[in-house]
Amino acid sequence: MQNAWTPTSPSRVIHANNLEVLPGLPDGAFTLIYLDPPFNTGRSQKRQSTTSVRSVAVDGSHAAGTITGFKGQRYERIKGDLLGYDDQFEDYWAFLEPRLIEAWRLLADDGTLYLHLDYREAHYAKVLLDALFGRECFLNELIWAYDYGAKSKNKWPTKHDTILVYVKNPARYYFDSTTVDREPYMAPGLVTPEKVAKGKLPTDVWWHTIVSPTGKEKTGYPTQKPVGILRRIIQASSREGDWVLDFFAGSGTTGAVANALGRRFVLIDQNPEALAVMRVRFELVAGIDFSDLTEERPENDAVGSQPSLRKRASQQKLPQSIAGTARPN
Ligand SMILES: C[S@@+](CC[C@H](N)C(=O)[O-])C[C@H]1O[C@@H](n2cnc3c(N)ncnc32)[C@H](O)[C@@H]1O
Repeated sequence: MQNAWTPTSPSRVIHANNLEVLPGLPDGAFTLIYLDPPFNTGRSQKRQSTTSVRSVAVDGSHAAGTITGFKGQRYERIKGDLLGYDDQFEDYWAFLEPRLIEAWRLLADDGTLYLHLDYREAHYAKVLLDALFGRECFLNELIWAYDYGAKSKNKWPTKHDTILVYVKNPARYYFDSTTVDREPYMAPGLVTPEKVAKGKLPTDVWWHTIVSPTGKEKTGYPTQKPVGILRRIIQASSREGDWVLDFFAGSGTTGAVANALGRRFVLIDQNPEALAVMRVRFELVAGIDFSDLTEERPENDAVGSQPSLRKRASQQKLPQSIAGTARPN
């Protein structure tokens, strides 16, 4: 990777296909990795994703040959059984697998992966991740429930996403729920006034609105996730000064929250529109490196080439809690 990044570098936003950048990042550098990949990536992604796959031996080290996964034959067998049922998911997993293997390598020994999935993908992914990371490394299945938009009349309207949480080392992972924003009790009459005042610790079901189409938080990026969801994740699974990685960065929510909470970050996205939004989002944050590692696009081209997005983005005024302030690196 050009502009090689190390943990002594400033926070960075990279315009690139993530699979071309990840192998150049150092082992164990990140305490937290949050991933919100596109759903149903389909066949077009399959070819590009398999070309630069590196193989991983049973002990997690990279070796020549085919992928065997961290758990070797067992993973391959489960994958073979499971993917046979669903062609579309097979393509999706072919796209995700090499990236998840890199994510595992990049996690620090006390690190945690949050993988944000659609309800259609979550169950296959859970089985495969159990086999890939090890079932003992599974920490939580978080349900993010919201209530917005059209509701189906012929089935229960699906209004949730699933976030699977895996740790690198179940004996060493970092988790501190005491720093997490608390929420109101559902039945405040049943607990003491002191408890009501303090609020309750969130469980594994998170009720949270989507990013409001008319709210202050909106960047204009269609798949933007709420700051409130990322705040919980980053508060619980990283410390101030730790490195956070999001290589499906989109509008940069992970970086914005990481910065506001005093963490450092690396964000990667291949879409010029995402880069345009992130440039505006981080405009007031000093000391962030922007690198363009796509061959065809010169640096600074992303915003300029999208006039409507530039206008929309520059009209937004992000509160300090979202955009954050400059942090020393
Ligand atoms: C669901 S969006 C992420 C939204 C983000 N969590 C937010 O809050 O804005 C997924 C992102 O992954 C990016 N993406 C898809 N494939 C990629 C790849 N191979 N390399 C880098 N980025 C990719 C897309 O451009 C898109 O911005």
